[in-house]
Amino acid sequence: MPTEQLKAKIADTFGAASNSYDVSARLQRQSGNIILSYLQDNMLSTTDPIVVDLGTGTGYFADVLKTDHHNVIGLDLSKSMLNYAREQRHNDINWLAADIHQLPFTDNSIDIIYSNLVIQWCDPLSDAFKEIERVLKPGGTFVFTTLLDGTLSELKQSWANVNDDQHVIDFKSLTDVEQDIKTTNFNIELLEQQPIVLDYISVKHLANELKSLGASHLPNKVNKGLSGKGSWQKMTKAYQEFQSDSGCYPATYQLCTGKLVKANNK
Ligand SMILES: C[S@@+](CC[C@H](N)C(=O)[O-])C[C@H]1O[C@@H](n2cnc3c(N)ncnc32)[C@H](O)[C@@H]1O
Repeated sequence: MPTEQLKAKIADTFGAASNSYDVSARLQRQSGNIILSYLQDNMLSTTDPIVVDLGTGTGYFADVLKTDHHNVIGLDLSKSMLNYAREQRHNDINWLAADIHQLPFTDNSIDIIYSNLVIQWCDPLSDAFKEIERVLKPGGTFVFTTLLDGTLSELKQSWANVNDDQHVIDFKSLTDVEQDIKTTNFNIELLEQQPIVLDYISVKHLANELKSLGASHLPNKVNKGLSGKGSWQKMTKAYQEFQSDSGCYPATYQLCTGKLVKANNK
């Protein structure tokens, strides 16, 4: 489990981004809509399910889930994110400050868990899968997205020209994620990887977007301060190698989408 100090840092970084998050959340909206479509069958087969949006952030998808379901809970580590969600979203969503590694639910109590771009922060990931499985009812569904190795490869390669510090968080491979799921009793209905490429008008635009999404916390970075002007210029020059004919700077996100169902006999 991440240390309390690390979890507090993640919550703080996201909390500081709560007001700017929604305008920068292009990737989140795209990925979140993909896994919403995975729930179509559940909407028909389960009457009045209890639905949890795990790592709800500003509550955007909890709000969308609320349009189809009565009982929606938005859960997040960051109280600032939850305060923002409480102000902006349906007032009959239940907002809960809690950690995915210690969910405040009894065994076999939840029907559907939805989680968009959150579990890349969970370490070890296998423990998070086990905790999610514990609280789901037999036959319950977990849909999720996360990011995989190869995400922000252009940024990583550009920084590699400057120094060997960490500038992009370490993401797992699809095989690693699959291995972690296999430590549980989930049946894998779907597990896929797809690249999503977003265009930025400048490298600064990309850096600002990552910051406003709260995704700039790097646990293994040696030099915690801001990068010096010279280093930054060297990196942005290296990034020009990826510039498209239209002048845009692409950034690749390797998206993992999954649909897991808890075995009925557990
Ligand atoms: C990239 S944001 C995604 C927010 C939202 N799911 C969306 O689609 O816009 C990740 C969120 O996960 C939360 N988070 C990270 N680690 C968590 C944990 N261990 N338990 C609960 N929430 C966590 C962060 O506070 C942040 O709000």
